[in-house]
Amino acid sequence: MCGIFGCILQTGEAASTIHGGLKKLEYRGYDSVGIATIYDGQLFIKKDSGKIDDVHALHNLDALPGRLGIGHTRWATHGAPYKENAHPHTDCNNQIAVVHNGIIENFAELKTELEELGHTFRSKTDTEVIAHLIEEKMKADLPFVDAVRETVKRLEGSYAIAVISAKEPDKIVCARKESPLVLGVAEDSLYVASDIPAFLPMTNKSVVVQDGELVILSDAGYEIRNILDWKRVTREPELIEWAPEMAEKQGYPYFMLKEIHEQPLSLRNTLRLQDKYLELMTTFLDRAGEVFLVACGTSYHACLAASYLFSKLSFLATHPVIASEFVEQHGKSVNIDSTLLVVSQSGETADTLDAVESARLRAATVLGLTNIVGSTLTRIARVYICQQSGPEIGVAATKTFTSQLSVLSQLALRLAKKRGKVSHVEIEDLEEKLEQIPDIVERAIQSQEEKVKQLAKKYRGKQAFFFLGRGISSAVALEGRLKLMEISYIPSIAYPAGESKHGPISLIEPGFPVVFVCPKDGTHRTIISNIMEMKARGASIIVVVEKDDEEIKKLADDYIEIDTGLPEVLSPIPFVTPLQLFAYYMALERGCDPDMPRNLAKSVTVK
Ligand code: F6R
Repeated sequence: MCGIFGCILQTGEAASTIHGGLKKLEYRGYDSVGIATIYDGQLFIKKDSGKIDDVHALHNLDALPGRLGIGHTRWATHGAPYKENAHPHTDCNNQIAVVHNGIIENFAELKTELEELGHTFRSKTDTEVIAHLIEEKMKADLPFVDAVRETVKRLEGSYAIAVISAKEPDKIVCARKESPLVLGVAEDSLYVASDIPAFLPMTNKSVVVQDGELVILSDAGYEIRNILDWKRVTREPELIEWAPEMAEKQGYPYFMLKEIHEQPLSLRNTLRLQDKYLELMTTFLDRAGEVFLVACGTSYHACLAASYLFSKLSFLATHPVIASEFVEQHGKSVNIDSTLLVVSQSGETADTLDAVESARLRAATVLGLTNIVGSTLTRIARVYICQQSGPEIGVAATKTFTSQLSVLSQLALRLAKKRGKVSHVEIEDLEEKLEQIPDIVERAIQSQEEKVKQLAKKYRGKQAFFFLGRGISSAVALEGRLKLMEISYIPSIAYPAGESKHGPISLIEPGFPVVFVCPKDGTHRTIISNIMEMKARGASIIVVVEKDDEEIKKLADDYIEIDTGLPEVLSPIPFVTPLQLFAYYMALERGCDPDMPRNLAKSVTVK
């Protein structure tokens, strides 16, 4: 996730306005920053790695001439956060500059094609192909706008782009597919940005650009066209009534809620990861003598779910380990045949890095899954995958958790394929189902949010909760419990449901709330018995179930229903989403700030 911004002013210099716009978008990424302007038919660019303030202190981003320009604040996906990978990217002759938010899936093929035509690439990004493709089209005498149109037709993946050309210095051309793009319209200026807060200080009139549209900004105004049929689209600006702090969260009151709602998008992004890294990691896992899944907190819950996935799909036994215990528990037995699959959203968690360090000293192989390119984990892992969830600001992990689950499911499926243990038909079916998950999550949020809100009202006064599941759902139960506990401060317990009778059931008295996570899987019959034993002691039963699971619904005091039709191994992602919402609304009910829970930090860099 990156932030893009562009503007055409009738008077004044664009660079300082772009700089101000990018500051408002910094929450979308801050690995590097860059601005390009046009003045007197010439392109001017300043860019570097680092946060906006640091790059500005070094290069004075405001000192670029011209009243038209584009800018970018980066969240690294393809290519490390170095200066050469910072946007804007240019063509061979420095005539065209592009800023981009999204992922171009077919960039490798396009790059090879362009290199064969003699283009020279300066960065490792997917974005740079856009500048060269436009250059190629303009070489064939296409006007700038047509060259951009023909270029975006060749792009697969997601993009919001803004492009300027020294050859036609009076316009900015933008296009959108899946990544957000909005226009800001004022009397004497036009803006384009990833998000409204970037131009809100200048204008509250905004036009949302839709998927498949291209926009031409010039002194004459904005012209929206459908990319495919080139029909003109008329869309009047709407008035934005958000206060600036609301706008930063796209109208959501808290980042956590925004991030829960972003999950369909972040999950779609995980389905676009580059094949070669997934394949490489699968090969390492296949060859490993033993595999440890190492992480803390929420990321550990993803590892726990992954241990079921690897076992059930790929017939690979793994050891999920809480990172802070790794050295004590396994430090001496790790050796050259051991592989650690290390999961850390931040890539900076001290306990996790400590485990990695000790394993590296004993020549183990370290594989990393993280959300932050350039983090310590990406520097020390033999191979890493960036899950591309975009920045997560809320302290409680939500979208990064479901993205971790998605990547780990993909790895387990690939390994299953490689090992030939599961039939092709079954693999294809699972792959198809994995693709459906973003839509399933979207529907689950839409249909259940109001219900969950009401449940939070009903149960707000409870002193404690149980969260129970069986099989892979016990990992979901643990995560649901952690979310509730960390942001609404309600002591809660979670464990595999079969354990109740070995101790915890003694806590149950009438009205004690017990949340069961019950996908319709092989554990269905036994989880019903577990519900019955709680019910018999007067517990209030809340279940998360498949929509058509009348049998369990009848047993429950309250239910949250999800229409997934997914096999058990893929159920954790949709089943955890209502539990994230439950924790969020419970925090609000109890007057707690869900974004900043007490005593916690987003990245835990102390041991
Ligand atoms: C809980 C949460 C934490 C983190 C844990 C590990 O909502 O966010 O439990 O999961 O601190 O952090 P990373 O994944 O950055 O290593």
